[in-house]
Amino acid sequence: MQNIIEELEARRATARLGGGQARIDAQHAKGKLTARERISLLLDADSFEEYDMFVQHRCTDFGMQGKTIPGDGVVTGWGTVNGRLVYVFAKDFTVFGGSLSETHARKITKIQDMALQNRAPIIGLFDAGGARIQEGVAALGGYGEVFWRNVQASGVIPQISLIMGPCAGGDVYSPAMTDFIFMVKDTSYMFVTGPDVVKTVTNEEVTAEQLGGASVHAVKSSIADGAYENDVEALLQMRRLIDFLPASNLVDVPEMPAFDDAERVEMSLDTLVPANPNMPYDMKELILKTVDEGVFFEIQEKFAANIITGFGRMEGRSIGIIANQPKVLAGVLDSDSSRKAARFVRFCDCFNIPVVTFVDVPGFLPGTAQEYGGLIKHGAKLLFAYSEATVPKITVITRKAYGGAYDVMSSKHIRGDVNYAWPSAEIAVMGAKGAAEILYRSELGDADKIAGRIKEYQDRFANPFVAAERGYIDEVILPHNTRKRICRALNMLRSKKAENPWKKHDNIPL
Ligand code: HXC
Repeated sequence: MQNIIEELEARRATARLGGGQARIDAQHAKGKLTARERISLLLDADSFEEYDMFVQHRCTDFGMQGKTIPGDGVVTGWGTVNGRLVYVFAKDFTVFGGSLSETHARKITKIQDMALQNRAPIIGLFDAGGARIQEGVAALGGYGEVFWRNVQASGVIPQISLIMGPCAGGDVYSPAMTDFIFMVKDTSYMFVTGPDVVKTVTNEEVTAEQLGGASVHAVKSSIADGAYENDVEALLQMRRLIDFLPASNLVDVPEMPAFDDAERVEMSLDTLVPANPNMPYDMKELILKTVDEGVFFEIQEKFAANIITGFGRMEGRSIGIIANQPKVLAGVLDSDSSRKAARFVRFCDCFNIPVVTFVDVPGFLPGTAQEYGGLIKHGAKLLFAYSEATVPKITVITRKAYGGAYDVMSSKHIRGDVNYAWPSAEIAVMGAKGAAEILYRSELGDADKIAGRIKEYQDRFANPFVAAERGYIDEVILPHNTRKRICRALNMLRSKKAENPWKKHDNIPL
């Protein structure tokens, strides 16, 4: 027995070394942690239960016979984050560059199956060179199996991808089908084809960072939902994110201990909106002063900053926040911000996370660049997402709610449950100046007359009362009471039951 135990320990020690000390040192020299070090930071201390530590590939081509390393380039298992079950797989770059073989894929699919069966989130840590080149089609088959499971699990359990090194070829598409992708700055990059192939095909010369670093995907392409300075920060932030999410679509959002008074008033909000309607202000101030303890987990902070998306809590329960940001492009809705917000609303709706929307939007962005880029379809995504969402929806209009954007931003007409407006709200088809110039085109040469017309329109519509008279706004509230009113509304909506008609799935304008 003693011998067997010693053999087990020896085998475990070998497996834990992955590709060996030299490769571990090389990994550290690049500023990266190893797969096991990452898992131990992500999960609660001593909670990791590993699966398939001794699994090895069966490839015999291209000199692979006898070149086996236990674990085969991916560490898989389950553990807890602040006591809640999660499944995890972490690519081990020290073993064949973390590349995906048939058996490596089986390890991942086993974890995916367990996560779906047991309804708990799955987190993938990526650091890999794509398909195991020596295996050919067996690796492609493996990817297909992973992809199919990503889709089965979509909307059932949260799926999170953290890119912590190279993520190329087949490795990009599994993260792309998960709910969130985060990256580590400077050490991670994602692309379908790398700089060498790009050079051959298009003659462009780019570095890996320029092609697919965090500076690209968290800012320009919107592939990534955020980027962090290093492995440690990224993993700790993933723990924060998981705390906001329910384990699956079948359960309610987690309820954390709350230390912030639900009735707390914030007098400073009464002066947040400037007297001049064209002056910007920071919508994040409203968000931070509304949520529990000012804690906000922002999604896609650096992309389409004219709309803000992220998670907060009210009385300890998670909410999703969508807010126009008057500080950036006057908070206008364009293609990028519409897509960003639509995806976020859909995530919240999948996972029973109530949606709180703060509105200050002058409309959709005009121009050929937007129209040629498909603004109609992208704007429709957000309209569609809000319209199909059956989670509790609370809307607060702080200032402008103009034109189609008024309808889109969780208005009563698309089944906002509780729609509030601040006294500073202006709800109209368009701004007073634009309206007067269209209605009184013949008077355009007379500045005084037009100024009078603008004022007339302003006086009539630049307030919340026309909408409130029709019941489109449930109540005009004082800004300092915003948190209190939202907390009460969320409590009132706790047992909301709303269902869309049965369908196989909808046909959101993609
Ligand atoms: C097998 C691989 C590998 C791969 C890396 N390695 N990628 N082995 N299959 N795909 C091995 C290397 O041979 C090397 O082994 C070790 O991992 C470390 O790799 P290095 O190249 O030394 O590391 P580095 O310089 O940091 O470069 C990392 C890299 C590069 C950028 C990821 O390795 C690379 O470009 N790899 C190939 C990427 C790729 O084209 N993958 C296939 C994509 S096709 P030794 O023993 O020398 O240390 C694909 C199709 C799937 O994925 C499509 C499904 C839809």
